[in-house]
Amino acid sequence: PLTQNVTVVEGGTANLTCRVDQNDNTSLQWSNPAQQTLYFDDKKALRDNRIELVRASWHELSISVSDVSLSDEGQYTCSLFTMPVKTSKAFLTVLGVPEKPQISGFTSPVMEGERMQLTCKTSGSKPAADIRWFKNDKEIKDVKYLKEEDANRRTFTVSSTLDFRADRSDDGAVVSCRVDHESLNSTPQIARQVLEIHYTPSVKIISSSSWPEEGQSIVLTCESKGKPLPEPVLWTKDGGELPDPERMIVNGRDLRISFLNKTDNGTYRCEATNPIGQNSTEYVLIVHDVSNTLLPIIVIPSLTTATVTTTVALTTSTATSATAINTRDPNALAGQTGPDHALIGGIVAVVVFVTLCSIILLGRYLARHKGTYLTNEAKGAEDAPDADTAIINAEGSQVNAEEKKEYFI
Ligand SMILES: *[C@@H]1O[C@H](CO)[C@@H](O)[C@H](O)[C@H]1NC(C)=O
Ligand SMILES: *[C@@H]1O[C@H](CO)[C@@H](O)[C@H](O)[C@H]1NC(C)=O
Ligand SMILES: *[C@@H]1O[C@H](CO)[C@@H](O)[C@H](O)[C@H]1NC(C)=O
Ligand SMILES: *[C@@H]1O[C@H](CO)[C@@H](O)[C@H](O)[C@H]1NC(C)=O
Ligand SMILES: *[C@@H]1O[C@H](CO)[C@@H](O)[C@H](O)[C@H]1NC(C)=O
Ligand SMILES: *[C@@H]1O[C@H](CO)[C@@H](O)[C@H](O)[C@H]1NC(C)=O
Repeated sequence: PLTQNVTVVEGGTANLTCRVDQNDNTSLQWSNPAQQTLYFDDKKALRDNRIELVRASWHELSISVSDVSLSDEGQYTCSLFTMPVKTSKAFLTVLGVPEKPQISGFTSPVMEGERMQLTCKTSGSKPAADIRWFKNDKEIKDVKYLKEEDANRRTFTVSSTLDFRADRSDDGAVVSCRVDHESLNSTPQIARQVLEIHYTPSVKIISSSSWPEEGQSIVLTCESKGKPLPEPVLWTKDGGELPDPERMIVNGRDLRISFLNKTDNGTYRCEATNPIGQNSTEYVLIVHDVSNTLLPIIVIPSLTTATVTTTVALTTSTATSATAINTRDPNALAGQTGPDHALIGGIVAVVVFVTLCSIILLGRYLARHKGTYLTNEAKGAEDAPDADTAIINAEGSQVNAEEKKEYFI
């Protein structure tokens, strides 16, 4: 007879099959590890509802054992009653399914810096199950593993201990204990625990402006972390209360100072407190002069650029205008507002200056023409006794005078 070893998960069904190639109507029999006969051909011998006949023929005797328990494990024998009797043995292996793992040793909350020992335990596995730890899906390798035999002396209780010092970065982390076992059909049993770690606040001030100027407003944001969350935060200036509550408005973590003024210079402190402790940080505010920007005049040049080319006086006037800007505010060009702004400001100033110069020159040119015209008309009329004679005596004819008048208009 031919048989095969069988492995079955506790509670499952095991099929025991015995085959023979040649048989002259000789009987086949299955017996259990205690040498009790289970089936003799198609006749049931042992009163056990879990054992049933699957197939009985001259070349096969198959039986099934349902709801297998750990005690069913052992060597089963198939016998062919020839002379002498021929046998074949099949080993039935029963796997113990690990229980759902439990994590113990967790206390909540834990203070930062404290030692934490988490133990994950699972009983009932056969063979002993494998336990692994993960923190946010990343495996932790350095753990202690312990294996104990259960009271039934067949299965095992396995446990694993994770030992670490609580850190603020672990707050909210998910620690999981994963049990892998051949009886679990590659779907591991997992126990999870979310860590809660309390720690002192940390604070940071973020400024809305890197170059606060007079008249502007600024928002200082106090970013504080901590567990429990430190709220509200406390804002002070130079060790005292905020001096001007009308312009200095605290809204949650934000301190907003509007219409900055040089008296606002000083050290601003943000303090965050939670039940674990306190922390603070400072920001030194320096209110700067309003930078001398010429940008608002930008509109004019594009309309009048065409007139710029007319006069020779331009070169010198460009030079003077540049000097004028330099003397007016040495910082404007070396600029904290940035070299680009200063450059643009300078160019715009030059263009505007040149434009204004050309307009003035044009005006003066026209005005001078008007003067010449009047003088010409008066020539020859100086000695006339009355207006009529003056017109008649005048050098220019009536037609000429009219042309000039039109031109003037
Ligand atoms: C055992 O045999 C029965 C009947 O042939 C079949 O339905 C079942 O799937 C078998 N079980 C195993 C574990 O092979
Ligand atoms: C086996 O038994 C059957 C009847 O039960 C018979 O017909 C057959 O000839 C027998 N075979 C042998 C090889 O004895
Ligand atoms: C069946 O199991 C037994 C005991 O575990 C072992 O000695 C034997 O080699 C196995 N036979 C086969 C065919 O795997
Ligand atoms: C205060 O916060 C800073 C970081 O913002 C941190 O380095 C420091 O340790 C904290 N102080 C205390 C007493 O927690
Ligand atoms: C600046 O603020 C102070 C008090 O906050 C006020 O007395 C002073 O007039 C302000 N100066 C200007 C230029 O606004
Ligand atoms: C504020 O700081 C600016 C820049 O350092 C300085 O020019 C100004 O005099 C300071 N004003 C006061 C009142 O301290």
